[in-house]
Amino acid sequence: MFGSALAGKAASFIRADSAKDSLTAAPRIGWRSGETMVTVDNKLFLRRVPLFQGLPEAQIERLSAGSSRRNYPRGKTIIAEGDLLQTMYILLSGRAKVQRSDAEGKEVILAVLGPGEFFGEMSLIDDEPRSASVITLESCDFLAIRKENFVSVLMQSNETCIAVMRGLVRRLRSADRKIETLALLDVYGRVARVLLDSSELIKGERIVRNRLPRQQIAKMIGASREMVSRVMKGLEVEGYVVALPEGRLRLCEKISAYL
Ligand code: CMP
Repeated sequence: MFGSALAGKAASFIRADSAKDSLTAAPRIGWRSGETMVTVDNKLFLRRVPLFQGLPEAQIERLSAGSSRRNYPRGKTIIAEGDLLQTMYILLSGRAKVQRSDAEGKEVILAVLGPGEFFGEMSLIDDEPRSASVITLESCDFLAIRKENFVSVLMQSNETCIAVMRGLVRRLRSADRKIETLALLDVYGRVARVLLDSSELIKGERIVRNRLPRQQIAKMIGASREMVSRVMKGLEVEGYVVALPEGRLRLCEKISAYL
């Protein structure tokens, strides 16, 4: 049951909550907020990024020369919806949300990105303004890559083009699922889907490792925070979800019945 509930879930890369789970396992000497770090060669990081797997050394060199590493604290806007600046980013550690907001400031979270994922490529490809904002959910390390370097690699590497296409297709699949969720599921089903999509199988148990604030869930499913709190309470009381220390959750298999 779990398997089918999770079919189509974006291939997860690696999670950021332990040193080995990020791309920045190297000592973080000299990081300061927003600062470009120059102590460790960017090539080390580029080689670990799935997007650039198999890229010849000369192209890694070129990308490295045109990229800079940055660290930002929680709550920092890396990309603002509608902006025209053209840089793409690779998340090395931490998590960031992709969101859109309307004129009244109401927000919807389109996705939560983790280590190894890239963003900001869409404006580089179609020369349109930024399609969404990207905001850090915790302290994050990024590689920022200039448009001309990224485009030059795309021109020369079929593998990288395919990897970018794979990333875009993954997002389309996830957007399709989101449309289905919003159109067909009630609020219990929507919450259940967010929980399942945020979970991973650890020793045979489905665990949500990262704290998932009610407000964040609400913005992912178009419901109020109060409604999400009521649903979460109901799920806990009925034994669908078990709260664990440090904000983790264990999901019981029967939660799939809501989908
Ligand atoms: P860009 O439009 O340049 O800037 C905002 C970025 O957010 C966009 O590129 C994508 O990288 C990312 N983005 C937009 N929509 C989604 C989505 N539905 N899922 C994941 N990432 C997205």
